[in-house]
Amino acid sequence: MKNAGDPSVPPVTVPFVRSARASGRRLAMLTAYDFPTARLLDQAGIDILLVGDSVGNNVLGYDSTLPVTMEEMLHHVKAVARGVKRALVVADMPYLSYQTGKRDAIRNAGRFLKEAGAAAVKIEGGRRRAALVRALVDAEIPVMGHIGLTPQSVHVMGGYKVQGKRLDEARALVEDAQALEEAGAFSLVLEGMPEMVGRKVTESIGIPTLGIGAGRHCDGQVLVFHDFAGLSQGQVPRFVRRYADLAGIVTEATRRYIEDVRSGAFPSEAETYSMPSAVDAPPRR
Ligand code: KIV
Repeated sequence: MKNAGDPSVPPVTVPFVRSARASGRRLAMLTAYDFPTARLLDQAGIDILLVGDSVGNNVLGYDSTLPVTMEEMLHHVKAVARGVKRALVVADMPYLSYQTGKRDAIRNAGRFLKEAGAAAVKIEGGRRRAALVRALVDAEIPVMGHIGLTPQSVHVMGGYKVQGKRLDEARALVEDAQALEEAGAFSLVLEGMPEMVGRKVTESIGIPTLGIGAGRHCDGQVLVFHDFAGLSQGQVPRFVRRYADLAGIVTEATRRYIEDVRSGAFPSEAETYSMPSAVDAPPRR
């Protein structure tokens, strides 16, 4: 049970997130994939931890999110949930865990709540997911929607491209958002769209939006942990702000460690165990 024993820190709940706009609070969300990271981010006060299927690219070494399985997601959601006392833990539904129908979707989403300790799930897609969102909500499973650049549609989009640049596409995104709200989603991720479209979408619905590359007018922001902390390599998208350079810190620490091991500087006497003094100097006969 979250926060058992610490009533001064109320846990972040689905109703809390749903009413964030009314209470004037901007929501801070990050992805997390493991226990120690989740514990640190939670202790620092993050509102929402998304166990994203981006675990595929960032942790498992896949080149997209498509290969990620339910079993892999469950493994990571369980680890994150064990590290969290306050934040809302949202589990990302991996590709083909919900696109195959309501029955599969409810069974798979339910496993995240029942077995792994998540409080909600996230699914990608707009109007064509509305009936599915309704079915999940009817099964007591809170749903976060995700529209715009939806990575599971990479082949349909022809790459990871900003969406909603044309007027008809922007209008379609507004309709998608309204359909998901109507179906019962409690919040929406808006990914990869012009700021003006992110704003229009946000203004057209009552539930909070969490932007990633969707500009400044969303109700909150989300970043992938490895981008945020400087652990991902190569070019990062324009919308990423690196808050730390963990890759630099870990690389430098590793170089120093190798040097110390090779030179014999590690371990020092203080870093070794000695025998108890009686045993150290056995009595002479
Ligand atoms: O999987 C993920 O990390 C996501 C975020 C980009 C929102 O879906």
